[in-house]
Amino acid sequence: MLLKMREPNTVKAHDLTFELMISEQEVQDKVAEMGKLLCERYQDKNPLFLGVLNGSFIFTADLTRAFGEKCEVSFIKLSSYSGLESTGEVATLIGLTTEVEDRHVIIVEDIIDTGKTMHDFLPTLEKMKPASVAFATFLLKPDAIKYDFTIDYIGFEIPNKFVIGYGMDYNEQGRNLRGIYQLK
Ligand code: IMP
Ligand code: MG
Repeated sequence: MLLKMREPNTVKAHDLTFELMISEQEVQDKVAEMGKLLCERYQDKNPLFLGVLNGSFIFTADLTRAFGEKCEVSFIKLSSYSGLESTGEVATLIGLTTEVEDRHVIIVEDIIDTGKTMHDFLPTLEKMKPASVAFATFLLKPDAIKYDFTIDYIGFEIPNKFVIGYGMDYNEQGRNLRGIYQLK
């Protein structure tokens, strides 16, 4: 039998304390809902889920299983954050290695903050002539966004506060937390 671990109300990562904002149950319910929505549009399309590492590794795993239909999964690795701040520079650490021409691509992000990472990546992807491109992000900070593009699937909109958990980190810590925690 699986014993459910109790969810702590506060956690520490390096020097900072974070408090529970979205519980594991709420996270899982939302992912199931997003999977169903994606099904309505992509059921017979064999979409390519393109996760953005590192932050989206858990969400991509859960979302593709919630989708449940035929699909493919690949990853790219982009980085714009250092500590608690966006650096404004987006580095491509691992580029696109999968053929995307004529494919329906769903870009999977853990969180869209300023939007710079996705805004900068989009032209690179569009040059490769995908059949369609959609964005699915688990979290969105509406008060932080500075770039204009359509985000098709949004899990939760959250205040402009730094968060960790469910793949997201503070200097690499906190990624394996099951809920979302915000900086206290
Ligand atoms: P953007 O380019 O400003 O939209 O930043 C996007 C990336 O920065 C996300 O995919 C995350 O990896 C990281 N990021 C933004 N906000 C947070 C946060 O509150 N906690 C952890 N990582 C974040
Ligand atoms: Mg990310």
